[in-house]
Amino acid sequence: MAYEQLRETAEEAARIGGRILHDWADKFTAREKSPANLVTEADFASENAIFEFIHARYPDHRFLGEEGLNRNEGNSAFRWIIDPLDGTSNYVHGFPYYAVSIGVEEDGRMVAGAVYDPSRDEMFSASAGQGTMLNGQPIRVSSEEDLANALCMASLPVKTTRDDPAVQAFLRVLEAAQHVQRTGSAALNLASVAAGRVEAFWSTSLKPWDMAAGVLLVEEAGGRVTKTQGDRFFVDDPDLLVSNGSPLHDQLIRLLG
Ligand code: IPD
Ligand code: CA
Ligand code: CA
Repeated sequence: MAYEQLRETAEEAARIGGRILHDWADKFTAREKSPANLVTEADFASENAIFEFIHARYPDHRFLGEEGLNRNEGNSAFRWIIDPLDGTSNYVHGFPYYAVSIGVEEDGRMVAGAVYDPSRDEMFSASAGQGTMLNGQPIRVSSEEDLANALCMASLPVKTTRDDPAVQAFLRVLEAAQHVQRTGSAALNLASVAAGRVEAFWSTSLKPWDMAAGVLLVEEAGGRVTKTQGDRFFVDDPDLLVSNGSPLHDQLIRLLG
């Protein structure tokens, strides 16, 4: 299977999802799946349309999506991992920082993916060995090596508390980095590291669909992907640290430990 074809399909499907988010933007209703964890009709409509589009092209592939999509039958090596709207809380509040995220893995290794930001019409995509692109142009991670000059981003658990170890770790990095932001879209944070706009991003509370496409974007743009303790990253594990691959990655491992 040509990974480029998978990347193109991910892009096409992400645009379809983005169009649906746009169409629902002035009429959705929001509800809580759990306290402060929001979902709207747009999340479901986007997931359905993305699945229909990709499934028509690759009927034997497996699928995992946030809003109930789980097709695991068959023995295809390929699994599509879909977040039809990453950043639902921002979407609900009209804050334009959310995305569609679609990654494809082959035998557990990410091989293609797209993250689409409909608010800025920015399409980030990658396929294994072919680099990362933003709207068709190659992008690279930044070259900043000093955490004191770095813009970092973090995801904290929804409804976290002040004594959560994740909050304590956030505060340690806050003291060391130039800036630390919490933005509400892990997928766009990963795309931002790939594009060299942000030096690092971490979280210990992510789901596969938040990260699947984004980690490939970072790797293919020359960045580094590990767990927050420096161990090997797996998409089914919530623990993730990505950076531009400079020495600030190891500085962050020390602070996050
Ligand atoms: C959320 C975002 C956020 C992260 C949360 C996720 P959703 O995804 O990625 O950055 O901190 O853990 O749940 O719910 O908006 O798809
Ligand atoms: Ca998400
Ligand atoms: Ca989502």
